[in-house]
Amino acid sequence: MPKARTPVVAVVPGSFDPITYGHVDIIERAAGLYDRVVVGVLLNESKEGLFRPDERVAMIRRIVGRNRRIEVRAFDGLLVRFARECGARVIVRGIRAVSDYEYELQMALMNRRLEPGIDTVFLLPKEEYSFLSSRLVKEVCRLGGDVTGLVPPAVLTALKSRLRDGAATPKKRQSPAR
Ligand code: PNS
Repeated sequence: MPKARTPVVAVVPGSFDPITYGHVDIIERAAGLYDRVVVGVLLNESKEGLFRPDERVAMIRRIVGRNRRIEVRAFDGLLVRFARECGARVIVRGIRAVSDYEYELQMALMNRRLEPGIDTVFLLPKEEYSFLSSRLVKEVCRLGGDVTGLVPPAVLTALKSRLRDGAATPKKRQSPAR
């Protein structure tokens, strides 16, 4: 009898503060390629976000949770440890432009050194999302610009209400803005 193929699990990690259509595009592409996708939302106590990690998880579940291949979980600590716990063989990251590549390459090589059994795969989002980042969406929305079509409607509503509540500006980050 032929041996059953082991399902391939992929982790799509990120801050997702908040999720944009660029992220959704990458998650759905990953779900089309792999048997199971775990979206890993980084719990980073030291980095102030606009949305709490539990809010980000809930938003992402509302948006992609109907796809039975996709699971959404929060994680802290090393990404490769989380990926191992999920039984993942693949980490999926989206690359929008050449400017993302250097940072992503560093992370991918470090992660491979830490866990040689897990490979990073880079996927390209739709061209129309190649300029899109959570940071820009927050900035534009905070300044009263229209971000309709860049984030799912539930995120748009949450953004408007959070920014109207006068939330603090999230801290600047070193890595390319997602
Ligand atoms: O959406 P982001 O903020 O670009 O995602 C960055 C993320 C979450 C993938 C990265 O910060 C990460 O993997 N953090 C977990 C800690 C870790 O494993 N650090 C070593 C990476 S080489």
